[in-house]
Amino acid sequence: MSAKIGTDVESAATLLREGAIVAIPTETVYGLAANAFDEAAVLKVFEAKQRPSFDPLIVHIGRHADVMRLVTEPPPGSLALMEAFWPGPLTLVMPKRAEVPDLVTSGLDTVGVRMPSHPMAQELLHHLAFPLAAPSANPFGYVSPTTAQHVSDQLGDRIPYILDGGPCSVGVESTIIGWEAGHWVLYRPGGIAVERIEEVIGRMMIAPPHILPAAPGMLESHYAPRTPVIVGDVQELLSTRTEERIGAISFSKNYDVTQCEVISARGDLSEAARHLFSALRSLDASECQVILAERFPDEGLGRAINDRLKRAAAR
Ligand code: TXA
Ligand code: MG
Repeated sequence: MSAKIGTDVESAATLLREGAIVAIPTETVYGLAANAFDEAAVLKVFEAKQRPSFDPLIVHIGRHADVMRLVTEPPPGSLALMEAFWPGPLTLVMPKRAEVPDLVTSGLDTVGVRMPSHPMAQELLHHLAFPLAAPSANPFGYVSPTTAQHVSDQLGDRIPYILDGGPCSVGVESTIIGWEAGHWVLYRPGGIAVERIEEVIGRMMIAPPHILPAAPGMLESHYAPRTPVIVGDVQELLSTRTEERIGAISFSKNYDVTQCEVISARGDLSEAARHLFSALRSLDASECQVILAERFPDEGLGRAINDRLKRAAAR
């Protein structure tokens, strides 16, 4: 099989209705989608990604009302959160209905739900009578794809169709929060800044890694390129490195290295997030022997950038 890349939403919808898997654009990263209520289709997602079955999938919906097909009781504050951030890059983990297959949620009694804002994802979901379970469309453990070409490079031989919605406008995965024992808890920083969520529901708990659900979105070594990544003060690191070819990821400064990826010359964290994964891929494909990355300001989308770089560095 070799994936066709196209912009035909109806073809994608037909394949999904037939139980096939299709790569779809979202505003965060590309997803590998299947009918969330069709276990055989969802199984194909796990196989194509070589994803362990203990890592639950996020379910994508097109309309606010669809939440009730997946969730028994939306926790306090969730309606305000949906109102404020949907469609958009916020995933809410909520108590699941029995109809949601255990394969989707890895047997947890909760389900992660989000409503993507990408116009093509919206159009697709409105064509379909079912929600879409979709993890990021990358082989398990690798950097998430932010263009159709990224998907094709790594999974092209395992899926029939890639719906091309252009480069993703947010560029890092959704922020994931869940309701636990009377509190909203941050599971994964992402495309919606924590500060903005706290404006709606007040102070959130940041989950210490040891109490997180056993889910590799939170595994240390996730989002990892093949080339080793070191995070820190790049100028200082440079004085200690002996490699011949060094790559760097920088916010706005240019370093004298073999390949320097400046991900926002104007110092804008949203722009930096949008460019982060492409920069990592480009450096990983280069001949660089090591990638040195700056630490970003720990605010707004900087939190998600630092999280992904930390995971890229862990191995
Ligand atoms: O932006 C995104 O979230 C993208 C696009 C495609 O929507 N999706 C994405 O999916 O990043 P994925 O599979 O790469 O990451 C989903 C993560 C899981 O690894 C897990 O950590 C968390 O979401 N998750 C899903 N369901 C959960 C649940 N019921 N409880 C706790 N965590 C859950
Ligand atoms: Mg992923």
